[in-house]
Amino acid sequence: MSTQKFATNALHAGHDVSANAGTRAVPIYQSTSYVFNDADHAANLFDLSETGYIYTRINNPTNDILEQRLAALEGGIASVVTSSGTAAISTALLVLLKAGDHIVASNSLYGGTYNLLSVTLPRLGITTTFVDPSDPENFGKAAQENTRAVFVESLGNPKLDVLDVEAISTQAKTLRVPLIVDNTVATPYLLNPIKHGANIVIHSLTKYINGNGTALGGVIIDAGTFDYGNGKFPEFTEPSPGYHGLVYHEALAEAAFIAKVRIEGLRDHGAALSPFNAFQILQGLETLEIRIKKHSESALAIAKWLQEQEEIAWVNYPGLETSRYKALADKYLPVGQSGIVTFGVKGGFDSAKTVANETQLFSLLANIGDTKSLIIHPASTTHQQLSDASQADTGVTKDLVRLSVGLEAIEDLKADLKQAFAKIDKSVLVH
Ligand SMILES: Cc1ncc(COP(=O)(O)O)c(C=O)c1O
Repeated sequence: MSTQKFATNALHAGHDVSANAGTRAVPIYQSTSYVFNDADHAANLFDLSETGYIYTRINNPTNDILEQRLAALEGGIASVVTSSGTAAISTALLVLLKAGDHIVASNSLYGGTYNLLSVTLPRLGITTTFVDPSDPENFGKAAQENTRAVFVESLGNPKLDVLDVEAISTQAKTLRVPLIVDNTVATPYLLNPIKHGANIVIHSLTKYINGNGTALGGVIIDAGTFDYGNGKFPEFTEPSPGYHGLVYHEALAEAAFIAKVRIEGLRDHGAALSPFNAFQILQGLETLEIRIKKHSESALAIAKWLQEQEEIAWVNYPGLETSRYKALADKYLPVGQSGIVTFGVKGGFDSAKTVANETQLFSLLANIGDTKSLIIHPASTTHQQLSDASQADTGVTKDLVRLSVGLEAIEDLKADLKQAFAKIDKSVLVH
């Protein structure tokens, strides 16, 4: 494991310059497949007695560098990149779980993940109980005999609740199931969940890691700390019919899960990352540290400013002194609390929709983590398909507006919000 600092690893980890024709930038290996030396070489690669490249759905030299770099930045033993953050989540869960298994998940999740767990996976016989994560004991209380994973977001999108990852990991350990943490909003610069007991870390690379809004991607990072030989995971301890009888736990020890993600997950679910996107994401990753510091600084400044605006009913940002998550933010996100701010607009649904509609510099769209500032009214867009109860669970109220604060000059951002607030029906402000 690299002992170098974050900024150095973000620029260099995984890239052996001499093995890549002296290229200073990571090259794009835009090839679907790789020529074997001979038939024996091919056979050895397929039976894992030799390592090498076979087919880009399974592995690729550009993706490989991104995988090593992300594993180094999160403190994992290895990772697998995927075509999107959603692909990372579904691939990880489908490799780990089978029909009849159960997940205990935080109820404060990105809407797409909430839908995957609450609607799509149950169709395959994998069920989820959602719990309020603010009391870590809720995870243990909701566990069933067939529980096989705990799933959370370290900093919930859009609730912005900072989770007590250590306390939740204690619950997962007692249940003897892996703790999976989606660390997308926090980024590996602000928080490393593995240091706090996470077994698997997931990112949507589409957000801050790429940072420029140019490429979708995801990653599954394995801490290598979970014991799949504990009797609860026969797919890891019995011969796999999916890979000519390979016993993952025996053959691959601490790398059992991530190896299965690659050789069965990518092979069978096919959610491979394009090497071109890996290249784009590598460009963004190089500057993650300086960007996320600035995103965090600007978001805090905007949050404080919003608290002073008469049109605003409430502001939620974990770095605010008034935030109920401030103590947890001090522990888990001491350097910065990322670039997302939510606030409630007086007048509810209509006023919030007006604000989202009227900003000009803040782009109205469904994404976060871009260098450019973004805005959305989740109740009428991303969370529209959820019931009122599910919206409330995921932290979405009718009056909530979500900002992803970009890297523009802060004065320009305030001016843009100010002119949008001026368009709200003023009768809602009288009282
Ligand atoms: C926290 C979180 N996880 C996962 C995802 C899904 O990522 P992608 O859009 O790359 O599939 C998102 C998307 O917004 C997200 O916010």
